[in-house]
Amino acid sequence: MLLRSLTLLRSLSLVALATVSVASAVAQTRVAQTPPMGWNSWNFFADKVDDKDIRAAADQLVSTGMKDAGYIYVNIDDTWEAERDSTGLLHTNKKFPDMKALADYVHSKGLKIGIYSGPGTKTCGGYAGSLGHEEQDANMYAEWGFDYLKYDLCSFIPDVMQKQAPDDHAAQMRLMIEAYVKMGKALQAATAKTGRPIVFSLCQYGWDSPWEWAPELGGNLWRTTGDVEAKWQSIYDIASQQAGLAAYAGPGHWNDPDMLEVGNGKLSLAENRTHFSWWAMLAAPLLAGNDLPNMKPEIKAILTNKDVVAIDQDPLGKQATRAYADGEVEVWTRPLQGDAEAIAVINVGSDRNATHPFHLDLKKLSFIDAQSGKDLWTGKTIELTDKMPIELPSHDILLVRIDHPRRRIPQVRVIHSGEMPKQDAPK
Ligand code: GLA
Repeated sequence: MLLRSLTLLRSLSLVALATVSVASAVAQTRVAQTPPMGWNSWNFFADKVDDKDIRAAADQLVSTGMKDAGYIYVNIDDTWEAERDSTGLLHTNKKFPDMKALADYVHSKGLKIGIYSGPGTKTCGGYAGSLGHEEQDANMYAEWGFDYLKYDLCSFIPDVMQKQAPDDHAAQMRLMIEAYVKMGKALQAATAKTGRPIVFSLCQYGWDSPWEWAPELGGNLWRTTGDVEAKWQSIYDIASQQAGLAAYAGPGHWNDPDMLEVGNGKLSLAENRTHFSWWAMLAAPLLAGNDLPNMKPEIKAILTNKDVVAIDQDPLGKQATRAYADGEVEVWTRPLQGDAEAIAVINVGSDRNATHPFHLDLKKLSFIDAQSGKDLWTGKTIELTDKMPIELPSHDILLVRIDHPRRRIPQVRVIHSGEMPKQDAPK
């Protein structure tokens, strides 16, 4: 399966990259060196979003300090599209009277702007998609000055995959990958003309392991799952599905567990904090999706916690892995630049009793003994000792950064001929 994907990937990417200039490919690889941060209209506004909301979001990113914290992209999601004219040019609907002027406005705030489309005839919201107009659309986004495209599979499934390859799953997946190769190429060609790189965000719900093939076609991020919802169960399910994907993330190419729901729905403060921390541990794109003009101070405090953002944006670009789980408590660790490390202890259970009795096991984290770190939600120094009891409210998190960990040094025996070196097994 893996071999097949890789072979396919190689042949597709050769076709994809052959005609793309070296300059544009270089420009493209320079974007998203850390996970993209910004705001997207979908999770709060859905189909109600208009030009005014986008301008207000840009203003708010600046006035709330979110821009200074790193939130740079203002992304318009679905429902901006009208119909194509006789030349195939796609027009905007009346909610977005002048896209170029809107892009200029967002840029004037020192921010970047993103747009949305899909490879089918229709987007998920039933608006015009890019099928058959990929280059024309990519050029239009580039002329408007867009910096980011989210490309959502949706109607390509019935329009092309099921129609052209009924009952042939493998052929359907090939068609899907080709559709992303096509837009990747179109974006790189458009970028070559303007010199403005466009972040390419794949949204196809994690089908056929995009982490294996998306980077080579120019994908900077790819959704790993279905849509997030502003509910703990959704946050937890999505986070759990990221286990095993750490090896695929790195500068320029990221696993995307979907946009943030921080501040949306009925998430408790603990759940908002855990959601945000977990995404930061996962080196996830941090695209806020809340109502910025009406953001509560406690939500702003979560989104602008610079220590937590720094975990997400760590230049090493290594995604967290689950070190171990003990009952309903999960412990995730993330290596950071300079041999530092972030540790998250999460009570995923429905009450405080899930952490009774939870005792931290430092050996499972490869530490020799007590570690001194910073609790990123209290801002205080914290001493992590072996077997220390940790009690957390339901769905809450302890997030600690250790700048100078004292690690257990693996002992390597002297190698005699014919022997393999052995590492000390964890105790
Ligand atoms: C899909 C995507 C969402 C959003 C909507 C818009 O469901 O996964 O993130 O873009 O389409 O219609």
